[in-house]
Amino acid sequence: MELRRLGKTGEKIPVIGIGTWRIGGDTAPDYSKDKEAVEAIKYAISLGMTHIDTAEIYGAGHSEEIVGRAIRNVNREEIFLATKVWHTNLRYDDVLAACENSLRRLNVKYIDLYMIHWPNPSIPLGETMKALEKLFKDGKIRYIGVSNFNVEQIEEARHYLSITDIVANQVEYNLFNREVERDLLPYCEKNGITLTAYRPLGKGRIVEEINDPKSRIGNTLRKLATKYERTPIQVALNWVIWHECVVTIPKAIQKNHIDENAGGAGWKLSKIDYKELLSI
Ligand SMILES: NC(=O)c1ccc[n+]([C@@H]2O[C@H](COP(=O)([O-])OP(=O)(O)OC[C@H]3O[C@@H](n4cnc5c(N)ncnc54)[C@H](OP(=O)(O)O)[C@@H]3O)[C@@H](O)[C@H]2O)c1
Repeated sequence: MELRRLGKTGEKIPVIGIGTWRIGGDTAPDYSKDKEAVEAIKYAISLGMTHIDTAEIYGAGHSEEIVGRAIRNVNREEIFLATKVWHTNLRYDDVLAACENSLRRLNVKYIDLYMIHWPNPSIPLGETMKALEKLFKDGKIRYIGVSNFNVEQIEEARHYLSITDIVANQVEYNLFNREVERDLLPYCEKNGITLTAYRPLGKGRIVEEINDPKSRIGNTLRKLATKYERTPIQVALNWVIWHECVVTIPKAIQKNHIDENAGGAGWKLSKIDYKELLSI
């Protein structure tokens, strides 16, 4: 798997990892597909998709438990484990408690990347960042990140950190939502912050576009797939990671999907082809 630098750190992470929203439930736990889910994550790891993204809110913690089971027999250093604290847990003591709970569910001693899932204007950001820096100092988390933050909010978060910096912002980015290109992506590029693209397949919408002969996006993906001898989905993923500061975390539980997604990396659309998709 192709690797990219995490923020300004010396860490290299897979450009395509695996997301786990709806693995283990959505907002409530669902135990019905545990075995399949554990196998899917293990399979992704075997393909080098070792950036695993989860959150305390996913399946009300059960997603983290599934990830914990999937990585049980894997060398901890080989995995880049990312999870997120929910926006109602951003008070100082709540952040510390949430992190302990995630560590327990994941069954690990440290989290690689710990992110604020969504900003919460009713809790002072300085208080949250202080708690995150405490976790960083204590070795419970290796890097601090944010999610769904705009440029101003990232700047404010960075301002409260004294011994480390924000390494990543996780935001929606796909062919249907290119909002980040306006100012967030250029900001991340300029400041050495990784942009982790979530929903790279538009939550599966991409499949409908590809199968719709009237869809301009679908037609262009199919044309480029033929040109590059890839699949249209691989072209769509390659488009998302086109900028060097971007990595992505498509969610897939089906093995053929995981296989296909892994092939979205390791090659690059030409600038002209990238721009053709950009212009639609
Ligand atoms: N920070 C945030 O606020 C936030 C918000 C949303 C998502 N996320 C993160 O980003 C991850 C990805 O986003 P997402 O799960 O919403 O959407 P997504 O990755 O864009 O799409 C997932 C859907 O696409 C399907 N799929 C995956 N690979 C496919 C392939 N090769 N061919 C056809 N279908 C394919 C999956 O099916 P199967 O599962 O059946 O294989 C699933 O239904 C999440 O899992 C989560 O970790 C973060």
